[in-house]
Amino acid sequence: MKHEPTDAEIYLTKLAFFLCRKSVYKAFADRLPLEGGEHVLDFGCGMGTVAYYTAKKLPCGHLTCLDISLRWLNVCRKTLRRYSNINYLLWESPVLEKECFDVVYCHFALHDIPDRDLEVVIPVLAESLRPGGVLAFREPLNETGKLSLVKRLVEQSKLFLKDSRITDIPLMGNVLESLYIKQ
Ligand SMILES: C[S@@+](CC[C@H](N)C(=O)[O-])C[C@H]1O[C@@H](n2cnc3c(N)ncnc32)[C@H](O)[C@@H]1O
Repeated sequence: MKHEPTDAEIYLTKLAFFLCRKSVYKAFADRLPLEGGEHVLDFGCGMGTVAYYTAKKLPCGHLTCLDISLRWLNVCRKTLRRYSNINYLLWESPVLEKECFDVVYCHFALHDIPDRDLEVVIPVLAESLRPGGVLAFREPLNETGKLSLVKRLVEQSKLFLKDSRITDIPLMGNVLESLYIKQ
């Protein structure tokens, strides 16, 4: 379901970014397996909180920032205005080129997506990864039903768990971070 953020949501997200940028968003970007030349997808990029740090790690690579909301994408463009290694994609229909990304990550994006849409989204994300590519996500731990569905769909898409951790992060509580590899 499409949802455009209100001015208040944008303001609060900017405030959270200002207050917790290193402990929350940079910490996640730092754990992505990046060497600098990868092609990376930020699925549900929002205002570009994680992308702000990922883009810096890709001096010879490329980052695609994707969101269902045009308004968030426009805010994201402003956050990342100093970078040239980025393109912006509005997710209108679930189509991505196959095997074009080395890393796909979702930061607090999957738990908001209705189950029937997730059943389409996760296979499309898995297909967009090259063999050996990585899918990483970080989602709230209290969304147990949603997390079970995400894990099932990821495993059905022939991705294999490489690493998983639970962390307690400021403003957000306990979160599950998982990293899967495509064989
Ligand atoms: C809670 S925000 C997280 C934004 C950002 N990843 C962060 O952590 O700051 C969730 C984002 O997912 C986007 N989103 C929700 N459903 C989506 C879908 N089906 N496809 C792409 N983006 C979606 C929303 O528009 C929103 O920007």
